[in-house]
Amino acid sequence: MKKWIRGGTVVTAADTYQADVLIDGEKVVAIGKELHAEDAEIVDATGCYLLPGGIDPHTHLDMPFGGTVTSDDFFSGTKAAAFGGTTSIVDFCLTKKGESLHQAIATWHEKAKGKAVIDYGFHLMISDANDEILQELESVIATEGITSLKVFMAYKNVLMADDETLFKTLIRAKELGALVQVHAENGDVLDYLTKQALAEGNTDPIYHAYTRPPEAEGEATGRAIALTALADAQLYVVHVSCADAVRRIAEAREKGWNIYGETCPQYLVLDITDLDRPDFEGAKYVWSPPLREKWNQEVLWSALKNGILQTVGSDHCPFNFAGQKELGRGDFTKIPNGGPIIEDRMTILFSEGVRKGKISLNQFVDITSTKVAKLFGMFPQKGTIAVGSDADIVLFDPAVKRTISVETHHMNVDYNPFEGMEVYGDVVSVLSRGSFVVRDKEFVGQAGSGRYLKRATFSRP
Ligand code: URP
Ligand code: ZN
Ligand code: ZN
Ligand code: ZN
Repeated sequence: MKKWIRGGTVVTAADTYQADVLIDGEKVVAIGKELHAEDAEIVDATGCYLLPGGIDPHTHLDMPFGGTVTSDDFFSGTKAAAFGGTTSIVDFCLTKKGESLHQAIATWHEKAKGKAVIDYGFHLMISDANDEILQELESVIATEGITSLKVFMAYKNVLMADDETLFKTLIRAKELGALVQVHAENGDVLDYLTKQALAEGNTDPIYHAYTRPPEAEGEATGRAIALTALADAQLYVVHVSCADAVRRIAEAREKGWNIYGETCPQYLVLDITDLDRPDFEGAKYVWSPPLREKWNQEVLWSALKNGILQTVGSDHCPFNFAGQKELGRGDFTKIPNGGPIIEDRMTILFSEGVRKGKISLNQFVDITSTKVAKLFGMFPQKGTIAVGSDADIVLFDPAVKRTISVETHHMNVDYNPFEGMEVYGDVVSVLSRGSFVVRDKEFVGQAGSGRYLKRATFSRP
């Protein structure tokens, strides 16, 4: 069955132009002003942008973490993603000490199977990068197409890797063409400051931020970059939150090193004062790295504009306030880290970024889709609207004004961190490989229609 999308404005990372798009099956087969297809279903896109479906490079669905499990599974999480204009995600497969990578990956396939409504790939979260695991990586890349892995410099005694482990991982990643992702915070410093705070009876959510200072993120970012340069490898710093880390990435990129960075919507619009909200509401704003002083936001926006940071991931890691965030009443270290962002990632970037003149419309597409596809081995199948690419297309109405709220969102969680925020831009319809997942703001997708994405090894974008 063909679909002929008429009257919209195609937006890619490079161009903005009026054209119709013709889809045959799962692919885009023609783009132009004088299309011809009398056997096609006509889709009216008047007044809408046609965006390549968003690709969220950072999600945690159905993940055990902090003594509980994230509240969105692969059905509710990918459905909410689609409502927000995202048509592919790369979720973090959690590995366990003593378990093979292939076992961990099989567990993650089970979680997604029959549930995902959009396409999905996996990164690995490495909990123990021993020689056996580094050996196994080769077959993981070959058989699973998992070409990126996250190493932790924080979460001491749980996930934290020492410098030797990080260095060995970088050398192995260089050999195999994998992209190493780091959670860059100095875990030893955080551990010391946290114990000190608790010993002094400082247990409120705000101490989550006070015990994870920006210097600790800057230091770890700089150290990871230095080790990457030594290994002549490639590095992607996830969830960059502050100026100190941005500066290290900027310096490395100026030297021509293979260093990339991601930030998240929460760091672009929320700040440390949110952690001080009364009645334990600050717990809703606990992320690692923590929200920073407000002035950092301008630094992050300009880093996106200037290409120092290349992507915005949601780091979607949702926990209900009731029963989950509340685990940390009386002890901020027991608040599960993370928040629900998957649905609002694109709109916040459009409304706060494009509408307010901080990034261009084409940069918005690059940051939310194209560059993600290129960095993570999915381009040109994903990440653009082009003949031969998957027909992952979002009909986006830039003129609609609306208010973000838990009352209207689709994420399976009992609050929205952006509650009451007025935004411009609304996702009207979403196609995933040529089939509607959302049509005129109604869900019409199918659990299990999302397909697993095998990704190519790293090549410089
Ligand atoms: O607070 C966060 N970021 N939770 C998710 C886990 C991680 O470190 O990415
Ligand atoms: Zn004809
Ligand atoms: Zn992290
Ligand atoms: Zn994360």
